[in-house]
Amino acid sequence: MAYDREIRTDIDWDSLGFSYMPTRSNIRYKYRNGAWDKGELTSDPNVSMSIAATCLHYGQNAFEGIKAFRCKDGKVRVFRPWENAKRMNRTAHQLLGPEIPEEMFLEAIHRVVLDNVDYVPPYGSGGSLYIRPLYIGTGPMIGVAPTDEYEFIIMVMPVGKYYKEGLKGVPTLVIEDYDRAAPKGMGQYKCSGNYGASLMPAKLAKKAGYPVPLFLDPKEHKYIDEFGTSNFLAITEDGKYVTSDSPSILPSVTNMSLMEVARDLGMTVEKRPIVAEEELPTFKEVCACGTAVVITPISSVTIHGKTITYGNECGPVSKKLYDTLTGIQYGELEDTHNWMFEI
Ligand code: PLP
Ligand code: COI
Repeated sequence: MAYDREIRTDIDWDSLGFSYMPTRSNIRYKYRNGAWDKGELTSDPNVSMSIAATCLHYGQNAFEGIKAFRCKDGKVRVFRPWENAKRMNRTAHQLLGPEIPEEMFLEAIHRVVLDNVDYVPPYGSGGSLYIRPLYIGTGPMIGVAPTDEYEFIIMVMPVGKYYKEGLKGVPTLVIEDYDRAAPKGMGQYKCSGNYGASLMPAKLAKKAGYPVPLFLDPKEHKYIDEFGTSNFLAITEDGKYVTSDSPSILPSVTNMSLMEVARDLGMTVEKRPIVAEEELPTFKEVCACGTAVVITPISSVTIHGKTITYGNECGPVSKKLYDTLTGIQYGELEDTHNWMFEI
């Protein structure tokens, strides 16, 4: 299908980073009296709510990250939004908010991406349209309890690379003085509080020259958990794909997909606890993976004052995984798993 709106000519697609950009519209659904409304597109970038809203005081606040791609055949497709719908509902359930029906989640994505289709970067630019669903408790409550009024909002904006280094390695620091989540806490949910907890350690790591903080498990500080904005994966000397298994990390859609890609490529995949100090020096390639960061090679990990170096270039196995995943996303390779949702 041809889209009504042509690709915009007033955006420099090659210099996009990962920053906020207002677009034509966002879409909003309100939950009142036990039901969601039909949703509305609006050009208003602000939200209005009670000063006693639970998202402002008591953390009834969740979000997701998804990408839409302009594919080789000119169509726009969204990567695995069903998985984000499930994950947002797991978070909503934990925050005692109402479920978002999957059809409503997908309809919302369809409507807002179509209305902003001219903001989807051109094929070949390496960019994508970042889709940010937001789920907030908007009703007033002053005792600590869930409200009965919510908003589900989706904003979209064109993005390029999250780290300016792109497929060049990024140095990372193991955080020793902070945890992003508690052992039996909210680490596996995409609630905004986890990101608040990561701000100070991320700032300190950045100040010390490390753009990416790496967190250990909060119980023993022995196993690798994840990066502040992405999961951890490593390639062993004998070519295995190893990634952390921990109750305090976010189940990443990208990681889940890369594990399937790795198996398709004939690799052995191990999802298990990774003993940081012991195993980091044995890995051949280390990467961060997530929607925003895609696959970002890690050039070094500094742990307890020692630095283990992996090199500045993206390793060959990580590159193969990157090429396969992005090949599916941009419609260059067959979508054998039916991961893409067409707009
Ligand atoms: N871990 C954290 C803490 C994240 O914020 C993200 C980003 O969404 C990920 C992992 C990667 O998850 P996904 O691949 O679903 O984007
Ligand atoms: C994403 O990768 O979509 C994220 O949500 C991570 C970060 C930008 C918070």
